[in-house]
Amino acid sequence: MVDINIRQVNKHDVDGCYRTESACYTSDGATREKILKRTELFPEGFLIAESGGRIIGLINSASTDKEDITDEKLKDMVGHVKDGRNMVIFSLAVLPEFQGNGISKQLMAGFIEVSKALKKEKILLICKSELIPYYQNYGFSYGGKSKSKHGGFEWYEMYLLLKV
Ligand SMILES: CC(C)(COP(=O)(O)OP(=O)(O)OC[C@H]1O[C@@H](n2cnc3c(N)ncnc32)[C@H](O)[C@@H]1OP(=O)(O)O)[C@@H](O)C(=O)NCCC(=O)NCCS
Repeated sequence: MVDINIRQVNKHDVDGCYRTESACYTSDGATREKILKRTELFPEGFLIAESGGRIIGLINSASTDKEDITDEKLKDMVGHVKDGRNMVIFSLAVLPEFQGNGISKQLMAGFIEVSKALKKEKILLICKSELIPYYQNYGFSYGGKSKSKHGGFEWYEMYLLLKV
């Protein structure tokens, strides 16, 4: 087991988050500028996992009243509405050498808790086909193929209802 701490991001975490993002994604990864904007505009929806003072995982998001989350501008927080109905997850990443230790599970559990505390209705995301079962494992439902071609990949919609 890896000893980790999950907490809300702050402005000093931007470089560590960008390093983690870059190690986990290719053409679909966020730039440092995008990470910075997410940190500044919606720290409530941005959690990090740290171990020994080092950032080893993250989950970040925006909030919106929309159901269609394919607008690329949202990744730059254009259209982010703090009090929006839905949470939109952009990145969920754990450094390769720390994967397989339940860290993303703890990040997602923390994120669901925060989303409920913020009284959100749904968590929305798009993922690659191989991760559909991974999100189903967290209770997400499959919402169909997305029209997004972000990073040159095919994407699939997943959603988790928080209010029934
Ligand atoms: C996907 C990712 C976040 C998983 O992180 P992790 O910390 O290794 O995952 P965990 O150890 O918390 O695993 C949680 C559960 O998911 C399962 N799982 C992990 N990776 C999986 C994968 N690629 N496909 C399917 N299931 C997976 C685990 O077996 C575990 O299941 P269990 O609860 O039944 O034991 C990590 O591999 C990663 O950063 N990948 C690159 C970036 C990425 O693709 N992010 C997600 C898309 S936006």
